[in-house]
Amino acid sequence: MKVQSTTTQQDNHFLISDYDYKSTNIEKNGDKYIAKPQITNFKFKTDTRIPKLGVMLVGWGGNNGTTLTGGILANKFNVTWNSRRGTHQPNFYGSLTQSSVIKIGTCNTEEVFVPFKDVLPMVNPCDIVFGGWDINSMNLADAMNRAQVVEYDLQQKLRPYLEKLVPLPSIYYPDFIAANQGDRADNVIPGNNKLEHLNIIRKNIADFKQQNNLDKVILLWTANTERFCVEDPNIHGTAEKLLKSIESSHPEISASTIFACAACLEGCSFINGSPQNTIVPGVIELAEKAGVFVAGDDFKTGQTKFKTCLVEYLVGAGIKPKAIISYNHLGNNDGKNLSQESCFKSKERSKKTCVDDILESNKVLYPTEEELNIDHTIVIKYCPETGDSKKAMDEYIAEIFLGGRQTFAVYNVCEDSLLAAPLIMDLLLLCELFERIQFSKDSSEFQRFDTVLSWLSYLMKAPKSESGITTINALSRQRAMLENLVKVCAGLTVDDNLRLEVRYG
Ligand code: NAI
Repeated sequence: MKVQSTTTQQDNHFLISDYDYKSTNIEKNGDKYIAKPQITNFKFKTDTRIPKLGVMLVGWGGNNGTTLTGGILANKFNVTWNSRRGTHQPNFYGSLTQSSVIKIGTCNTEEVFVPFKDVLPMVNPCDIVFGGWDINSMNLADAMNRAQVVEYDLQQKLRPYLEKLVPLPSIYYPDFIAANQGDRADNVIPGNNKLEHLNIIRKNIADFKQQNNLDKVILLWTANTERFCVEDPNIHGTAEKLLKSIESSHPEISASTIFACAACLEGCSFINGSPQNTIVPGVIELAEKAGVFVAGDDFKTGQTKFKTCLVEYLVGAGIKPKAIISYNHLGNNDGKNLSQESCFKSKERSKKTCVDDILESNKVLYPTEEELNIDHTIVIKYCPETGDSKKAMDEYIAEIFLGGRQTFAVYNVCEDSLLAAPLIMDLLLLCELFERIQFSKDSSEFQRFDTVLSWLSYLMKAPKSESGITTINALSRQRAMLENLVKVCAGLTVDDNLRLEVRYG
């Protein structure tokens, strides 16, 4: 795709697009609103050179880690496999960047769509070099077998590639994850000195980058859900205090926070795929100083994606959700870990907050704070027999016209990691892309996006935002935000769906 426009130019290896952003400033005057439309000029500059990308996963030997690595290798080497349904080809279904499309315009009256990945130059997932850590020493072929996610024949075909991959020893703070994980921990960096741990992880990153001749590395936490650390401004509040607390091996410094710090100190962006409060203010300051991004928290895969879609639809239709009751049962290691109350609490929190902004936006349905307090219940049960085939059962009760009730009962079954793996890939590819984009507002100096990469909120259950920016959870708004950003950077027109060119030529 090539954009021909006076507002877009290619300058060496930079694609520069000029964009007049239209917004509306609202002033409140008593109970009246005064709306003042305004236009702000932005320029977006995208480095079109595609780097050699390395990714280090924390929890590489887990269900997500093995499914992601194996799935990408299956695509890279076009590994086919048989099941009782026939012969299967690898694909990237479930990946926003690889398998969804973006409308770029109209040809006569036909709408034209291209793959998301083709709008701006992006890393090919098959070119990513993977590495990582796990507290369990199993090679990735055996770990994939243990995970029980991927069809047996595919496991066998991937074995020659995966058995050579063995996770690096990791840091293990038993107090932060469930006690039932103890029997997995046979690949652990010894000692209790957190500064030494930080330095070993930093060295691992530097060695990985150098040995694989990489342009950049991104770290992603897909290890067990930890309990929340007891956040304290004196411990976690600034970069300096955080590093001091690591130096004194403070008990409220979690393993995930050590990895986040190591990433920042090695100039790598860090993504938190679990719900806990890894990205404390001190980590954000370290990332800011290093000029890298942090993003979190918790992958938004099946149940929550659906929730933020259904509730957006109901509230958008003027229907009032009054209760959401979510049951999950799952039998994988994630479920086993979540069976401990402290880890469940982290998950409950991220699952519960995901509709708040959608409800708050509609003061017709929810005129008071009290009414916003709907019944939103989260239950998670560990049931080993279900394996990775997670069952999610949700009941939505909504109030309709004249006091009537509308109830939806939703039953969702699938291998959790087959949803998570393509989403993790998107997080990595988009994070890498955003490292190559700069913007300028009203002809100011070009600068990078904010340190907390809330552009990725479509992929996160409890999206972390830069301070002062409200979080958007509504799924279609999150997707539109990502799609429009990519289009604007490429010099394409943002679609407002009026379709006037089709209606009136
Ligand atoms: P898993 O339990 O199969 O894998 C986690 C891996 O992390 C295990 O291999 C474990 O040995 C390792 N680990 C634990 N502590 C570690 C440490 N300190 N350093 C290095 N490795 C460590 O879990 P799964 O299913 O892969 O999920 C991973 C995370 O992603 C969990 O926190 C889960 O809640 C989160 N998540 C998963 C979703 C999914 O759809 N699969 C959706 C949303 C979040």
